[in-house]
Amino acid sequence: AARKLALLPLAGKRVLVTSGPTHEPIDPVRYIANRSSGKQGHAIAAAAAEAGAEVILVSGPVNLPDPPGVRVRRVSTAREMLAAVLENLPVDLAIFAAAVADWRAAEEADAKIKKGKGPVPQLSLVENPDILATVAKGSPRPRLVVGFAAETDTVLEHARAKLARKGCDWIVANDVGKGTGVMGGGSNTVHLISEEGIESWPTMDKSEVARRLVARAAERLREDTP
Ligand code: CTP
Ligand code: CA
Repeated sequence: AARKLALLPLAGKRVLVTSGPTHEPIDPVRYIANRSSGKQGHAIAAAAAEAGAEVILVSGPVNLPDPPGVRVRRVSTAREMLAAVLENLPVDLAIFAAAVADWRAAEEADAKIKKGKGPVPQLSLVENPDILATVAKGSPRPRLVVGFAAETDTVLEHARAKLARKGCDWIVANDVGKGTGVMGGGSNTVHLISEEGIESWPTMDKSEVARRLVARAAERLREDTP
């Protein structure tokens, strides 16, 4: 058993990961999106599977292959992502790496909106559900809930506020401001924020960030196993 734990630290555990952007339709040919590539989320799902977990990956539209050994549920909008996440509870560990669109168009036009037919259209937005907060404050709550925080300024301050606001256990904060260029890139510079404090990790491959995060999560789950 000790040997299995060393090799497969998440054996017997259920893990849910969200990844990628969401696409929020405006009309049949247009949508609101963001620059998320899904690389970090997909790498986390792959690392969790490598660690022996049963992994469900709920992913927005990405140009990435399905990670090996992972069950993938593809969705498009934030509301679809929330529904797919809730359908796949309970889990032991949930990691929310998706860049969920914060807003969607208040109304989706049934037909393509045409130009030159009166004034320029005004886009009216409504807020999307917060998937992480819904799960972190809901039931059945995963034992460990991890959020991400992509920030362009005062990264740690914003991330600490997010930890409290969303009710998650850890926040992985990264700086996506000008020059750092992590959105879409292969590496990431992150800070792991918990109630115990802040750990700043050196810049590394997204796959390495994923493996370290999964190892830390496995340790934590082991600590509070009765
Ligand atoms: N998140 C989510 N559902 C949303 C928005 C965010 O599940 N509708 C999750 C993200 O997957 C991430 C965390 O919440 O794990 C933080 O996302 P972020 O966009 O950084 O925070 P917001 O609360 O949306 O605040 P803001 O975008 O204004 O910084
Ligand atoms: Ca957001």
